[in-house]
Amino acid sequence: MNNIYLPTACEILKITKQTTIEWLFKVKTDIKPECGQFIQVSIPKVGEAPISVADYSHEEGWVEFLIRKVGRVTDSIFNLSVGDTLFLRGAYGNSFPISEYQGKHLVIVSGGSGLAPVRPLIKKFIDDKNTQMDLLFGFKDSDSILFKDEVLEWKNKRPMVLTVDKACGIEGECVGLVTQYIPHLNLAKDFNQLEIVIVGPPMMMKFSALEFLKLGIPEEAIWVSFERNMSCAVGKCGHCKIDETYVCLEGPIFRYTKAKELLD
Ligand SMILES: Cc1cc2nc3c(=O)[nH]c(=O)nc-3n(C[C@H](O)[C@H](O)[C@H](O)COP(=O)(O)OP(=O)(O)OC[C@H]3O[C@@H](n4cnc5c(N)ncnc54)[C@H](O)[C@@H]3O)c2cc1C
Ligand code: FES
Repeated sequence: MNNIYLPTACEILKITKQTTIEWLFKVKTDIKPECGQFIQVSIPKVGEAPISVADYSHEEGWVEFLIRKVGRVTDSIFNLSVGDTLFLRGAYGNSFPISEYQGKHLVIVSGGSGLAPVRPLIKKFIDDKNTQMDLLFGFKDSDSILFKDEVLEWKNKRPMVLTVDKACGIEGECVGLVTQYIPHLNLAKDFNQLEIVIVGPPMMMKFSALEFLKLGIPEEAIWVSFERNMSCAVGKCGHCKIDETYVCLEGPIFRYTKAKELLD
């Protein structure tokens, strides 16, 4: 019988330092994730952590993880080098409904490392001329900006507000929280054409969603993704449960109609 908890050994192909505490790991794998899913990443005798898929190629057989060094598992991952082994199981959770977004006006708002799970979504639509896409990213300061080269490349292709808490000298930059720029977005007049994706710290998601609601945008058009504590990731242990909702199974992506009950 298949053991659903059994991870597979996968080789680290590349490590790119994004910030001092956030590194991008490219890992060889047969796992074929969808946009917005997460994978359980582990090191034997240390532990396991859910990590969002920050990019992937089904054809070439790799995934990327943007890992923030915060504790036991992630500390150990930061001690690994190219050629070493990471253990993976998944992919888990639901994914962004790409076909629902296609041909509409997609607005993606991210805060800090929330850019990682939406990066594959941005890459899917960046050159799709039939889909309008506005980007609004918030970071603490210049040293915290992730995927800097890609962000600058996207900026040449799509309307983007890149805001930092402290000025950092990037041309056209804004200063302040993402929430203050939401009322100034040039949104589709027909709200049925809008799809808003917000990913970041819980407070940032909550207050960003409220700003869009103030503009009259319907709850159904707003999507958020949760980084809830998890353990099994397959609906067995209850660690991720908020009231009756298993975030690992029904999420991590939720429409605001449901998410509003889950945002503490
Ligand atoms: C769906 C999902 C997607 C995610 N995606 C990503 C991602 O893309 N990248 C990423 O880096 N993370 C992601 N996370 C978060 C990541 O899974 C957690 O940060 C995970 O706990 C890290 O494991 P760890 O063992 O390194 O840290 P832990 O040891 O579990 O520590 C986690 C947090 O707890 C605090 N902590 C640790 N020990 C203590 C203590 N004794 N007392 C009080 N506080 C303590 C740490 O400061 C830290 O903030 C995701 C989580 C979910 C659920
Ligand atoms: S993480 Fe175990 S039930 Fe969701």
